[in-house]
Formats: sequence, structure tokens, C-alpha cells
Amino acid sequence: MEIIRTVDELRQRVAEFKEQGKTVGLVPTMGALHAGHISLVDKARNECQAVVVSVFVNPTQFNNPTDLITYPRTEEADCALLEKAQADIAFIPSVEEMYPEPDTRTFDLGPVAEVMEGPMRPGHFNGVAQVVSKLFDFTRPHRAYFGEKDFQQIAVIKRMVEIEGFDIDIVSCPIMRHDDGLAMSSRNVRLTPEQRNLAPGIYKALQLGKTFAAEGNTVAATKALVTETINAIPFMEVEYFEIINAATMQPISDWADAPHAAGCITVYCGDVRLIDNIIFF
Ligand code: PAF
Repeated sequence: MEIIRTVDELRQRVAEFKEQGKTVGLVPTMGALHAGHISLVDKARNECQAVVVSVFVNPTQFNNPTDLITYPRTEEADCALLEKAQADIAFIPSVEEMYPEPDTRTFDLGPVAEVMEGPMRPGHFNGVAQVVSKLFDFTRPHRAYFGEKDFQQIAVIKRMVEIEGFDIDIVSCPIMRHDDGLAMSSRNVRLTPEQRNLAPGIYKALQLGKTFAAEGNTVAATKALVTETINAIPFMEVEYFEIINAATMQPISDWADAPHAAGCITVYCGDVRLIDNIIFF
């Protein structure tokens, strides 16, 4: 595996792959890699002949400066995992390399970005669109791989691809969970041992909500049950739990309002913000 730190070198190596007729897969990450990320790399490895993984903690998508400072950075361990997963390139640029000038672009991301994470993290999705559009421009991959844990992010990225006219397949990949059900996340390492023991309660509550909904209960009652169940766990506070139309990201108030519905949640466990979701149908 090659470690590349400059945009020029990345462009050159990807051009070589394409001259050799190889399909190129890109897996954008912010590092602190875990089995969830590696499942994306594995999928890219199975479907593409050249796999590029970017590792970059993107400052423009952090609306909370403490979150940016405390975000785990584990480059050496990340490279070892990527080497093992047989990535061809780890692209690990500096902030100056990615942003030689401030990125002042504002993307018209529309309704998919106006709910849930949109109002909760002002500027976050614009920052994601900025960095991912740069990575797409540098790499021009055939396919790019994203995890469904960030359910809304995938819709935002699809919208950005539409706006920018990129010819790239966005491949969404299922959430990877620990054996106890907690969604894998780079932020989990910040939980205390006690919080880590309680954190699987989030997914258990989502599953309880799914069963409750299948028994014929309303959207409002399901939202209340999940929220109250999690808030009753020590250290936990639900920031939001929305039940949405999975195609549009818009909240629904009646199950009949959506052909496919998902429940998206963010929970503060102490000061660690955890995110998860479940497909209802
Ligand atoms: O999902 C993430 O890790 C980030 O938002 C992404 C897509 C790598 C952009 O920085």
C-alpha cells in the first residue's frame, strides 16, 4: 500500500490506474478506523480493481471546536489496518493540502439537509459536501463507499453528486455493530467503561421501537417509547429521535406517509455524541 500525502501525486496514481483499465473505488474516512470502515474497504476491494482510502479529519464539518480537537487521530494503526485490508492507496493529506485557501463554497443541499443533523449541527453538511466534492474531484472514482450509520449523510452526498454532476456510484453499506449491538463508531473509544456497558441500550431501544411499531402503535407513541427508554438509562440523553421517510429524510407523522421508514437518533452518552438508526420497513 502506498501512502500519498499530496493531491498531485494522488491524481497521477489514479490516472495510472485508469490507464490500466482499472475501476477505482474510493472510501472517504476521518481515520480512527474500526471494523465498520474496514467493511467498506472490503466491499470496495471486492467490487473495484484499485482502492483508495482517504484519512482526513475535515475541520470544515465540525461545528463544535472541542469535538474537532478531541476527535481520535490514530494514523499508524489506521495504516496497519488498511495495509491488511489490501487498500492500494491511503491518501492522508494535511489541512493545508486539502484547503490551500479557505473553501467558501455553499452547496444548495435542499430538504435532505434541513432536518435532523442539519439544524443540530449548522454548517456540518456543507463542510461534508466541501471535503467529499474535493476528494471526488481529485480521485474521480467509479464508486464511493459510505456507511449507513450516517444515514442522512448518504442522502446529502447523493444530492451533492447531483449538483456537481459527478458520474460516481454512491454505494451505501450496512452498519457494523459490536456483539452487544452498539454501532461501531470512532467516538466509542471516548466512552468510560461504565458508559460503554450501557451504550448498547440505544440499539436495544430502537429494536424495541421497531417491535412496538409492528404491533400497530403510532409514530408518535413509538417515538415516545424509544426516547423515554433511552433517557431512563444513566448518562444518556436523547438529542433527537426522528422517524422519517427513508427516501426523502423528511419526518413522518403517520406510517402510511412513507413506503420505507427509518428511525434516526442521536444520544449524548456523557459528553460523547452517538448516532444510530434502524429501518422500520
Ligand atoms: O463519515 C465521515 O467519516 C465523514 O463525514 C466523511 C464522509 C469522511 C467526510 O469527512
